[in-house]
Amino acid sequence: MSKGRVFSGARPTGRQHLGNYLGAIQNYVALQEEYDCVYCVVDLHALTTLRDTEHLREWTREMVLDWLAAGMDPEQTIIFVQSHVPQVTELHTILSMVTPLGVLLRLPTFKEKARQQPDNVNYGLVGYPVLMAADITLYKADTVPVGVDQAAHLEFTREIVRRFNNHFGPVLVEPQAKYTDFPKVLGTDGESKMSKSLNNHIEIAATPEEILQRVMTMVTDPQRKYRSDPGRPEICNVFQIHRYFADEATMSQIDADCRAAKIGCVEHKKRFAADLAAYFAPLRERRAEFAAQPDYVWDVLADGAQRAKAIATQTIAEVREAVGLP
Ligand code: TRP
Repeated sequence: MSKGRVFSGARPTGRQHLGNYLGAIQNYVALQEEYDCVYCVVDLHALTTLRDTEHLREWTREMVLDWLAAGMDPEQTIIFVQSHVPQVTELHTILSMVTPLGVLLRLPTFKEKARQQPDNVNYGLVGYPVLMAADITLYKADTVPVGVDQAAHLEFTREIVRRFNNHFGPVLVEPQAKYTDFPKVLGTDGESKMSKSLNNHIEIAATPEEILQRVMTMVTDPQRKYRSDPGRPEICNVFQIHRYFADEATMSQIDADCRAAKIGCVEHKKRFAADLAAYFAPLRERRAEFAAQPDYVWDVLADGAQRAKAIATQTIAEVREAVGLP
């Protein structure tokens, strides 16, 4: 039996942080075992919200370096940049003809973006989900790993596929979402979701010194004012994130020591920082090796684009035929 095909896309955001790693990258890497995977840097999608585009190349390279260092295997998996396979824009245009405008304007994701950038409610922003549907269907993916924040976009894609296939015949594959229902990873402030734009993040490829520096600024249990106060690990964000990078025995010991005020927040943070640095040491090393070859990432992406294009060309031919384009 042939393997299913996974497609997922991520905006080029540069060096990846713990939130990206736990919520997406880890999963992308694991799915390679079971599926033929296609992972895409969605640079065109990024243009819908970016005013300053001078970092796009650098952020693409940095993100892909983290992906590769985390174990994405370019021999097996197709890793490429969205705009390197321009057939996606053709499919986007064709799909836009079976997309009711009202549906797009009612999507909560669109409304939120329009609120966030009221002076830049561009046409691309409205069509964002159509481009995403084009991504997924161009590569005939049957499985799409995404966060639950993308649920509306996935449902939209499925609806557009059904409409297209009803009109023109069964050409496109209706994809299944595979939700990565990973709990939200909070930033160093302990309040908001970890994100680069809030600068409350910890990069996975940070040096041990940088990790320690960031971890030291983390908010713990706000009720624990003095070293002698007992702590509440269930409230403490350091504890909550530490759990993903240490074994159970370690964590239940820290849990007990924190509640009994045998271990202070500073001491726990040092321990967490050390565990994080150790966990990511192999990734950091691999990353340095890849980064030392200036062309490596671009070579991987060029090869990925070529393999992606082979699939895309085939799909576009079928779509054009079905639609009846001369
Ligand atoms: N919209 C997704 C996000 O903001 C990114 C994305 C673009 C995507 N195309 C995709 C995700 C196709 C999955 C499949 O995170």
